[in-house]
Amino acid sequence: MPYENIIVETRGPVGLITLNRPKAMNALCNALVAELGRALDAFEADDEIGAIVLTGSDKAFAAGADIKEMASKSYMDAYLEDFITNGWERVTRCRKPVVAAVAGYCLGGGCEMAMMCDFILAGENARFGQPEITLGIIPGAGGTQRLTRAVGKAKAMEMVLTGRMMDAAEAERAGLVSRIVPVGELLDEAIKVAERIASMSRPTVLMAKECVNAVFETSLAQGVKLERRLFHSTFATDDQKEGMSAFVEKRSPAFKNR
Ligand code: CAA
Repeated sequence: MPYENIIVETRGPVGLITLNRPKAMNALCNALVAELGRALDAFEADDEIGAIVLTGSDKAFAAGADIKEMASKSYMDAYLEDFITNGWERVTRCRKPVVAAVAGYCLGGGCEMAMMCDFILAGENARFGQPEITLGIIPGAGGTQRLTRAVGKAKAMEMVLTGRMMDAAEAERAGLVSRIVPVGELLDEAIKVAERIASMSRPTVLMAKECVNAVFETSLAQGVKLERRLFHSTFATDDQKEGMSAFVEKRSPAFKNR
């Protein structure tokens, strides 16, 4: 089935997904979210792909869930279809790293979708916010939780209660984004970063991602134990032998993802 709301491409070992509803500021309608899930399934299943970039346009990563589609929903509609849980959370189940390249508006469900990715590279014009309160609702795709973990209670509470937007500089200071890049260079930089990740040993990348994500789900002792066990298990990979031999022999490693 062709994609109508996203553009799906590959750039070498990188899977590139571009949100593409320009007339609606890339608002995340149900059809778009379903297509995103399909594209992620395909990239996850493709052995040639080592990392994924999720991006929007220069104007908007995504301005939230689609308000026009949601406006007439009843409580029963939302509850029975398990609105958000179905579809949206596919991003959080990706084993391969997903880099969000965010320019322009990144609001509501758009900000929540970006925060579900592994890290965010921001264009200089990026604006982050959770404006749901202005619509008479609250964030529903993890915004109150992930934003608070990312930027701390004070900023998250202010943004969630007032709908105030953060610019890219503030988002970087607060730890919401890893780096700021000029808008014209954002996509190339995100692909370069994803290519670098894809050039590493695939199983080791998956283990590293699993460990960092465990921070949010475990105690320090449990997290360190998980890290230690997975660290030990990297010594069972061919790629550990190759990586360390290559260092000693002063050459680039040729990882085999085994
Ligand atoms: N849903 C549906 N349509 C949207 C949209 C959204 N989230 N955001 C923008 N659009 C549409 C507008 O309705 C408009 O369409 P028309 O031309 O047909 O009128 C088009 O995109 C362009 O938008 P604007 O004319 O508003 O553009 P602007 O430059 O003046 O403003 C903006 C840009 C500040 C992003 C503004 O569009 C805006 O505030 N959007 C809504 C942001 C928002 O409230 N997001 C949260 C949604 S709720 C949510 O996400 C729930 C959740 O947690 C899962």
